[in-house]
Amino acid sequence: MMIAIGSDHAGYEGDAPYKPEIMRCVATLGHQTLDCGTYDTKSVDYPDFADAVCGAILEGRAESGILLCGTGIGMCIAANRNRGIRAATCVTPEMARLAREHNDANVLCLGRRVLPVDECEAIIRIWLTTPFSGGERHCRRIRKLG
Ligand code: RB5
Repeated sequence: MMIAIGSDHAGYEGDAPYKPEIMRCVATLGHQTLDCGTYDTKSVDYPDFADAVCGAILEGRAESGILLCGTGIGMCIAANRNRGIRAATCVTPEMARLAREHNDANVLCLGRRVLPVDECEAIIRIWLTTPFSGGERHCRRIRKLG
């Protein structure tokens, strides 16, 4: 799968920048990555990068996306303003599993300041391997999202 990845400057904070690690993790799991920026610690606005990733998905250039910011929250709010995007901030593999199975979420949001990079791999692996359950009640609820 092609996974669009975007981050604000929080994705480059600290000794081990988050975004390159996340991109490596996705590649190690056998997927291609579409890098939607940003590329360094220069302060930027997270909605711009959420829109870049969501645009790539909605235009068919990527099948799903991963967004990184300080908490995962700003990116999630911004991404969910795009019709057809269902973004979820996840801090455990179980949240990632349920976001896929029940919500058919197509964007995973992760927070650099709240989730160590070594905890991300399990979340990303579950995210990328768990299909939507397709259950009638879940389909009905997703339809109501518009
Ligand atoms: C940037 O400093 C920070 O506010 C942003 O990365 C994010 O956490 C917002 O939700």
